[in-house]
Amino acid sequence: MCGIVGYIGTRAATEILLAGLEKLEYRGYDSAGVATVSEGNLDCVRAKGKLCNLQEKLESLNNPARLGIGHTRWATHGKPEEYNAHPHTDTNRRLAVVQNGIIENYRDLRSKLKAKGHEFRSETDTEVIPHLIADYLSVSGNSFLDAVRQAVNDLKGAFAIAAICADYPDELIVARQQAPLVIGFGQGEFFCASDTPALVQYTKAILPLENGELARITPLGVEVYNFAGDKLRKAPRTLNWNPVMVEKQGFRHFMLKEIYEQPGVVRACLEAYLSSGWQSEAGTSPINLGLPSELFSEVQQIQIVACGTSWHAALVGKYLLEQLAGIPTNVHYASEFRYAPPPLTPNTLTIGISQSGETADTLAALTMEQQRRADKEPRWQARLLGITNRPESSLAQLVPHIIDTHGGIEIGVAATKSFVAQLMAFYCLTLDFAAHRQSLSTTEIEKMLGGLQQLPAQMELILESQERYIEELAHSYVDTTDFIFVGRGISFPIALEGALKLKEISYIHAEGYPSGELKHGPIALLDAKVPVVSIAIPGKVYEKALSNAQEAKARDSELIGVTQLNDEEAAEIFDKILPVPPVDELLSPILTVIPLQLLAYHIAARRGLDVDQPRNLAKSVTVE
Ligand code: F6R
Repeated sequence: MCGIVGYIGTRAATEILLAGLEKLEYRGYDSAGVATVSEGNLDCVRAKGKLCNLQEKLESLNNPARLGIGHTRWATHGKPEEYNAHPHTDTNRRLAVVQNGIIENYRDLRSKLKAKGHEFRSETDTEVIPHLIADYLSVSGNSFLDAVRQAVNDLKGAFAIAAICADYPDELIVARQQAPLVIGFGQGEFFCASDTPALVQYTKAILPLENGELARITPLGVEVYNFAGDKLRKAPRTLNWNPVMVEKQGFRHFMLKEIYEQPGVVRACLEAYLSSGWQSEAGTSPINLGLPSELFSEVQQIQIVACGTSWHAALVGKYLLEQLAGIPTNVHYASEFRYAPPPLTPNTLTIGISQSGETADTLAALTMEQQRRADKEPRWQARLLGITNRPESSLAQLVPHIIDTHGGIEIGVAATKSFVAQLMAFYCLTLDFAAHRQSLSTTEIEKMLGGLQQLPAQMELILESQERYIEELAHSYVDTTDFIFVGRGISFPIALEGALKLKEISYIHAEGYPSGELKHGPIALLDAKVPVVSIAIPGKVYEKALSNAQEAKARDSELIGVTQLNDEEAAEIFDKILPVPPVDELLSPILTVIPLQLLAYHIAARRGLDVDQPRNLAKSVTVE
């Protein structure tokens, strides 16, 4: 949450900071601000609300500064008001700080600093930082870098900061502890940001800071230190991206663009992980995820930690890993796992799944798992695997093995293509396990592979043939206040995902249930005003799913079915049909989620809501 940016170089800083903040607005958007240093002065401009309010304020100023920092906020401590917006300054307004994270010991620090005469002007935790730095800077012999280093050593919590000082007009100091911060290297200019989309239009040479590191950035270069003050040798790496990836490319919203990118994501994943030369030989795998072979033989159970949409992907993963690879698998909310972990079991693979790769709860759960097994004998030790579309993220730095889903960066706050990419990672992982362990025959594996390869064209067909219809259908739900989504077996997590998509971007109350659970309580909610969306694809639980849908119909609910194309039985039951091409039930989640994403998108767009940046949410949840 919150996005921070910084610039030092030869160009006007404000423009670059605003362009960077625009690319980070998905991280938080309730207020924004920039601070710059020029001609010995510190200038700070902040505005409540979206970035455009700040842009308006800055337009007339024509600020020549070549050094500055900026921030877009997702409020944690203190209301989203201008006085709480970052950057925050010290009492004399000589230095300014932007922060992403939470300073846990801020109350204690604030009372100590107040007692020393520092004047506080906000309700935020962040404000202690500029005061603390100013306090250390007043100690004779301390440089700006020394003062920031001493200050960060006093902070408890997770944070990434950028700081500037009017008395150090050629220095931008940044530090990282459990929150992302990347430095960008240009020609005679340097950048920093919470995430790479803010940098990619200027440079592809990046250096992600690690926890416990800080850097002094001047027009001449970047020096990296640890919090103890030792200088570290670090080299930038090249980002394999192009700036167009973070543009809307003619789509009205990033979310719609990303829904349309899904067939390409499936193709990219298959291209990356399917071995072309597989000879259908038992015990060999058609998948190459680059995982060590002992993992396939030794692992006896799997636990997956995740949040939100990634948690839904994990539920599909559990279904596949248990039903096809025969491995007992548990899925945990990362935020719960950390404080009530299951008892230790030997030979357990822990998978952390996160589209941003920065979700604090997921990272903390994985770290805990690593720590609580660290002193055990080998078979008890942590085997950690990350699944993410951001291979440069903190998650990738934390775990020894990563499956890069090849989903690419996602900008819309509601996860769409990253979800489909996560599902693909689970199909590949499951097939890899099933092939190595021979829990599926080579014929069954070949059938699955054939089905997977057909998916991109089937997804394109849904997008081409369904979008207009769903857009029209969405009009009738603009004033609906409640929706229920149901599915059985592998479709249950898709019902959850359909409900989450709808509620988070349209603000309509929506719940997902296993179809069979409807009669155990939720059915009491049903009447003519509550539409029920049911996913019913021919397969193991098809007839049961249809019976459950009929139970809803008998309570006057309008029934919307996500069913197979030309399914006559379903056509008799459902009032409205969102058809998908014929598909094996096991592969159906990749198709059935698309009409639900489009339904949520068009209802929200029709309601005139900010689809890409829904209220109260952020793309990257870096606080616990
Ligand atoms: C919903 C959504 C969130 C995220 C959740 C976890 O559309 O995007 O529910 O799925 O915050 O985020 P990651 O996957 O980045 O760990």
